[in-house]
Amino acid sequence: MKTVLVTGGLGFIGSHTAVELLGRGYRVVLADNLSNTRADVLDGIASIAGQRPTWANVDLADPVACRALLQGLGDLAGIVHFAAHKAVGESVQKPLAYYRNNFGSLVNLLDHLAERPACRLIFSSSCTVYGQADSLPIREDAPVKPAESPYGNTKQVGEEILRDGARAHGFRAIALRYFNPIGAHPTARIGELPLGVPQNLVPFITQSAAGLRGPLKVFGNDYPTRDGTCVRDYIHVVDVALAHVYALERLFAGKGADPVETFNLGTGAGSTVLEVIHAFERATGAKLQWEFAPRRPGDVVAAYADTQKAAAGLGWRAERTLDQCMADAWRWQQTLPGK
Ligand code: UD1
Repeated sequence: MKTVLVTGGLGFIGSHTAVELLGRGYRVVLADNLSNTRADVLDGIASIAGQRPTWANVDLADPVACRALLQGLGDLAGIVHFAAHKAVGESVQKPLAYYRNNFGSLVNLLDHLAERPACRLIFSSSCTVYGQADSLPIREDAPVKPAESPYGNTKQVGEEILRDGARAHGFRAIALRYFNPIGAHPTARIGELPLGVPQNLVPFITQSAAGLRGPLKVFGNDYPTRDGTCVRDYIHVVDVALAHVYALERLFAGKGADPVETFNLGTGAGSTVLEVIHAFERATGAKLQWEFAPRRPGDVVAAYADTQKAAAGLGWRAERTLDQCMADAWRWQQTLPGK
């Protein structure tokens, strides 16, 4: 039985990935310091998977604590590294905290790979590395654009750290560039837990429809798109989670031309903000109050993935529809007041 460490394993994508790994017979260890989630996510994971993974409450940016954790785990087959700060606006206010945390944890984990290059690593990257791409859909070989925020920079430089480390120390890794992961597990036992006012579209929609927030502000109505609102590639979190399992298995099978490969995780189809609102109302029967507001600084006009490389290399495609994303996100939202 292979052991896989999932860092940020109690977070949104980490918890869904833990469930999929457990379902495929891996021994799963979670590392999470609860900086942006809650301990009871472990109960949700356990109730879906039928087994309770080990959880270590560790700050991976602390080199001593990180090393102690890894030494205690013995022979690790792989690490799926989600643990990172991820709020764009906050990263502008606290850039040093973002660099310390996101680079510190990555470098500490790579120190382990340098000593044990047989251990494979999956890194959470983002489509934010492409900025406003010159052509759509976005292929993995599209140029990386100057980062709009310290958060975005941690993803770009994180990929460079991987490549430099792999070149020097002979380990292998995959960076997965997520487009817009949304939704929740269909059981509604795990999902997204935004602390405070959600900055991302779908958690704001579900909280607004639940009466916890005012009307949704649709940022900008004069973009050069089919209805004037921005286009994004929204992808169900379970599809994203499955891609991590396939990426790990690609590394375990020794496939891959380069020591560090990158793959887009998107559906290949873009949706406007208004289309997301309509999908939400259609899939849930709930009504959403919304109004137009000025553009949000830093937003790109349109981003959606070319999915061919992931299909060929990972044998993976997103299968869940936007309506399923909305239905699952809403079911999850409705369980939250009881928690
Ligand atoms: C954002 C980040 C991105 C990060 C990702 C995951 C920015 C500029 N980008 O992506 O770097 O990787 O989250 O955390 O913050 N929208 C509204 N009203 C709202 C919220 C959003 O109209 O209240 C619109 C946005 O203008 C955008 C779309 O919804 O067009 C999606 O926004 P969001 O969910 O924040 O994702 P991104 O901006 O694509």
